[in-house]
Amino acid sequence: MVSENENPETKSASLPMMLILVLTAGGLGVMAVSGVIAAFVITGWLGQPVPVLGFQQTFDQPIDFPHTIHASTKQLKHVAADGQTMEGLGLDCTFCHRTVTTQANAGIPPVGFCATCHEVIGSADNNEINILRDAAGIIGDDGKEPIDWRRVHRLPDHVRFVHEPHIRYLTQNLSEVKGTTDGVTTGPSAVCSTCHGNVAAMEQVEQVEALKMGQCVDCHRDNGAPTDCAACHH
Ligand code: HEC
Ligand code: HEC
Ligand code: HEC
Ligand code: HEC
Ligand code: HEC
Repeated sequence: MVSENENPETKSASLPMMLILVLTAGGLGVMAVSGVIAAFVITGWLGQPVPVLGFQQTFDQPIDFPHTIHASTKQLKHVAADGQTMEGLGLDCTFCHRTVTTQANAGIPPVGFCATCHEVIGSADNNEINILRDAAGIIGDDGKEPIDWRRVHRLPDHVRFVHEPHIRYLTQNLSEVKGTTDGVTTGPSAVCSTCHGNVAAMEQVEQVEALKMGQCVDCHRDNGAPTDCAACHH
């Protein structure tokens, strides 16, 4: 019987080295277990996007969508594509991310939703707004087409995350909230900063929290939430 605990060498050994040691040891059970763990770790790595190496990354989106104008409650000075200076509208996060309080996904609104305002709001020569008018079939003649937003936050496929319990818990336990969204103190918009930073102040969304397993597990342990592997892993 050779287990990882009895053989100190295997602990510091690299993954291939460990597999060789396990294979030569010939313990079928140990091999199967190590295989499962190795597969888990490897798929974990492959499933992880590039930001692993530097998560503070942003993407150019199909439309240069500024959270500042839409979500900020502050009188920000944003210079629009047409040269005008604008101020934040202070829309609630849930106005657009409609399912964040009820479902796993927060949800990104369809372009038809944007068009309810932008059919008329924004000048006719604002290029960015015209991309959405075109996609909503208001201008141009190629009909309606969805906007292919690029995901900024994405956990590996083997991880399960659900927004609903987090928004519910944090709105009831404001002392657990980290950071603020423009100083908002009530409602769901007050808690997003815990994991996303102050999105309302971002011209382009970036991931500011690493959202690594340790951070999830620490908070779960401190707040009586489940810490068994199956709670977060498929
Ligand atoms: C409640 C109304 C409303 C909704 C809904 C809305 N917007 Fe806006 N948006 C505005 C206003 C107001 C401005 C400022 C326009 C101005 O002053 O010319 C703006 C500005 C913009 C701009 C111009 C930024 C610039 O720098 O010129 C873009 C792009 C934009 N919105 C995209 C979107 C997208 C994409 C959606 C849907 C996800 C959306 N908007 C939904 C009200 C809205
Ligand atoms: C007018 C609609 C609108 C409002 C209001 C709005 N958002 Fe968004 N949000 C979007 C759109 C469209 C995207 C996708 C484009 C992008 O990433 O910028 C997005 C993207 C995001 C993302 C990144 C999603 C990803 O790909 O990982 C986060 C996080 C986010 N919003 C949080 C917030 C928070 C927090 C608030 C409130 C302070 C808020 N949003 C208010 C429309 C909105
Ligand atoms: C406990 C941490 C946490 C909190 C609080 C949180 N989020 Fe998220 N959010 C995440 C994680 C993790 C992901 C990536 C999920 C994935 O890849 O499966 C994410 C993804 C998103 C996305 C993109 C994917 C989707 O679900 O549509 C949006 C938009 C978003 N969050 C908005 C919000 C808003 C708005 C709030 C506040 C009302 C909020 N989040 C609060 C952790 C959090
Ligand atoms: C700010 C603290 C906090 C952070 C950070 C956090 N969680 Fe949670 N999570 C909770 C709490 C509290 C609950 C239980 C809420 C309730 O139902 O009362 C929960 C519940 C869950 C659930 C539902 C569990 C079930 O079966 O009921 C999942 C899945 C989950 N979290 C995954 C994650 C993942 C993955 C991350 C990291 C990306 C994460 N959480 C980060 C506090 C947190
Ligand atoms: C509260 C949620 C949560 C719980 C509980 C949890 N994990 Fe994770 N785990 C994550 C998240 C989020 C990731 C992806 C981010 C990362 O790699 O840290 C992850 C990644 C992993 C990875 C891949 C690491 C890598 O480098 O890619 C392994 C292996 C793993 N978890 C094993 C476990 C085991 C074993 C348990 C039970 C003892 C467990 N996890 C419990 C959230 C959780």
